Amino acid sequence: MSDTSAPFDLVVIGSGPGGYVCAIKAAQLGLKVAVVEKRKTYGGTCLNIGCIPSKALLHASEMYAEARHSFGELGVVVEPKLDLPKMLAHKDKTVKQNVDGIAFLFKKNKIEGIIGTGTIKAAGEVEVTGENGARTLKTKAICIATGSEVAGIPGVEVKFDGRTVVSSDDAINLQSVPKHLVVVGGGVIGLELGSVWSRLGAKVTVVEYLDKVLGPMDGDVSSTFQKLMVKQGIDFRLSAKVTGIETAGEGAKVTFEPVAGGAAETLDADVVLVATGRRAFTEGLGLENVGVERDKAGRVEIDAHYKTTVDGIYAIGDVVKGPMLAHKAEDEGVALAEILAGQKGHVNYGVIPSVVYTSPEVASLGATEEELKKAGTAYKAGKFSFTANGRARAMLHTDGFVKFLADAETDRVLGCHIIGFGAGDMIAEVAVLMEFGGSSEDLARTCHAHPTLSEAVREAAFATFAKPIHS
Ligand code: NAI
Repeated sequence: MSDTSAPFDLVVIGSGPGGYVCAIKAAQLGLKVAVVEKRKTYGGTCLNIGCIPSKALLHASEMYAEARHSFGELGVVVEPKLDLPKMLAHKDKTVKQNVDGIAFLFKKNKIEGIIGTGTIKAAGEVEVTGENGARTLKTKAICIATGSEVAGIPGVEVKFDGRTVVSSDDAINLQSVPKHLVVVGGGVIGLELGSVWSRLGAKVTVVEYLDKVLGPMDGDVSSTFQKLMVKQGIDFRLSAKVTGIETAGEGAKVTFEPVAGGAAETLDADVVLVATGRRAFTEGLGLENVGVERDKAGRVEIDAHYKTTVDGIYAIGDVVKGPMLAHKAEDEGVALAEILAGQKGHVNYGVIPSVVYTSPEVASLGATEEELKKAGTAYKAGKFSFTANGRARAMLHTDGFVKFLADAETDRVLGCHIIGFGAGDMIAEVAVLMEFGGSSEDLARTCHAHPTLSEAVREAAFATFAKPIHS
């Protein structure tokens, strides 16, 4: 079957946060849009097996941990009991609401959603193979938004079986709490999902190659965060390189050795979560047939306007360079739709927050202290601890701090790093500040409601340009 009667302005391949947002924005701007998705539901990794289900589990397990460990101090006496099937059902229901929401938005915006695998036959031509056969879509522009997949461990054979050796895809769906969960990789996924199972009763050991967790984060934040995770019962083996994972009986053996060289050690695990990064997903797209080039890491090459090496073919999100973050993909989706509609779409890559949804949360924006030192930038730092914040004390959430980094001369904010309850929401006001080139004084002179956790953000800004009031 071939459909040449109604050419589309835009065919988006992939319906994750990059693809679906691009499609909706383009439709809002008057373009005729189709979205091709190979999964049975829309929303990509983020909505189906990533951000959304993990946040449902993070929230539920955090409530369980609070009920066990801090409700008593608040005068609430309960005897919490874990009902894992119900917790998993809550996660599944949350996913369904979100993916159904995208289908609704497609209908509302008159976007044609097509379930099937898309292959680019030529610029302007996408073949979709689905349950009912193949169909060819003719279009003025194609957007590749196919996202990323689990990378595995380079040089190590990892046999994912979905039960004993798992990636994040399955670690959100374990049917019982493992006794010992070994996490390979102390990055975002390892610490978020490690936290979930640790709170539910697993002993968790994280084996990390680098000498710090959350590698790219500010060193201050990363060391404080690690201490707090240790207090919660998570073990860390840093500067350790995993060299083998063998299933053995009902469990698995994880072998690792010091990065600096030395004797190998082995850990016995009931479940091993491999969280060592993700890579661009382009399989089956037919890029080689049309001349769309990729870089050494396998990411689709693009110019400053998201155009690939072929006219009429664009790419956004995890499949291109930059941080693999849903909100980065969304912003690129909006920018590309605007460009295709003749507007001046643009993403400010200097102001993309990065959030780890653990307890406490970690939120990071702009430059770290290490980056400023390396670049030789003269800066000043201001810090304020949540222990001195009234609302945090009332909530028993006094762990962590807010840290600002500002240009020594102009006071323009160059970075902000927050570790604390609700950090992911608090960083938003700093993003607005930085988007407008604001200074720490600008933020400190902005009235903040009392009593709120966000007063700690203001106090850290005060600490940067003058002195904080409450310390
Ligand atoms: P990651 O890049 O954050 O962390 C992977 C870690 O594995 C690194 O610290 C690396 O040093 C370590 N590693 C690599 N090889 C190793 C070995 N052989 N032995 C021991 N350690 C080893 O990757 P992750 O956590 O898998 O996440 C993938 C992507 O998904 C990231 O880009 C992340 O930003 C994104 N993501 C973002 C989330 C958020 O924004 N909250 C949540 C989940 C994922």
